[in-house]
Amino acid sequence: MELLSLLFMSSCFLTLSGLTFGDQSGTSVIVREGDDAILPCSLGTNENIEHVRFDWTKNGTEKEVYIHDTGVDRSPALPGRVSHFPDDLQHGNASIRINKVQPGDGGNYTCDFPSRRKTFRIKLVVDSVLKVRNDPGAAEPHVTSHDQTNVGVLLQCDVKNAHPKPTVEWWDSNNQIPSEKPQVSEQRGRFNITLKATVEKSGRYRCVAKQEEIKHQAQKEINVHIYGK
Ligand SMILES: *[C@@H]1O[C@H](CO)[C@@H](O)[C@H](O)[C@H]1NC(C)=O
Repeated sequence: MELLSLLFMSSCFLTLSGLTFGDQSGTSVIVREGDDAILPCSLGTNENIEHVRFDWTKNGTEKEVYIHDTGVDRSPALPGRVSHFPDDLQHGNASIRINKVQPGDGGNYTCDFPSRRKTFRIKLVVDSVLKVRNDPGAAEPHVTSHDQTNVGVLLQCDVKNAHPKPTVEWWDSNNQIPSEKPQVSEQRGRFNITLKATVEKSGRYRCVAKQEEIKHQAQKEINVHIYGK
C-alpha cells in the first residue's frame, strides 16, 4: 500500500515537472490588420513577476520583440509599438500588446522566462483586409414581409456578407420609397445590412442592392396584398 502510493506520487511529480520544464505550445491569435494584438503569456502561478526577467522574441531568436528586466523595458524590433500590462505582472501575467498590427507582424512568437526555464509559444496570424478587398462578396438581397397591421405591411430586406459595402433601397414599380434607417453591421470587412419599409398599398415592391465599385446590382421582388383598404 505504502509503496503503491509512493509510486503514484512520484509519477505525478514526474508528470508535473515534465509540464513545468517542457515547452508550452499551441496558442494562436488572429487579429485583423490595423487592430491591436494581445499575445497571451502567463506563468499560471499567480506570482509577482514585476522583477522577473521575461523575453519576447519572434521566429526563434531572430527578433527581440520585448525585454522586461528589472529597470527599463525595451522593444528593439518593434520600437514604441509593444507594451505589457503593468497590473497583470503581479499575477504572473507577461502578456504583451502590439499596436496596429501589420502583415509583417505575423509569425511565431516566444515568451521566455530564463530564470524559470519556462517557454511559451504564440502564433500571431494577421488577417489582411486587403485579401477581402481582392475577394468581393456580391450583394444578394433576401426579402420577407411581416403580417399586416393597421399601418400596413412591413417589408424587410437582408443583404449578408457583402463587400464592398452595398447601398440598399426599397422601390415600388416606379420610384424609390421611404424606408427606415438601415441596420448595418460589419465583420472582417463584410457587411450585413437590413432595410425595412412599411407599405400601405398593394403592389409589387423590390429591394435593390448596388455595389458601384464592382459594378454589381441585384434585386428581389415581392408581391404585397393589403386587405380591407
Ligand atoms: C493576462 O493579461 C491579459 C491582458 O490584460 C489578459 O487579456 C489575459 O486574459 C490575462 N491572462 C490570464 C491567464 O490571466
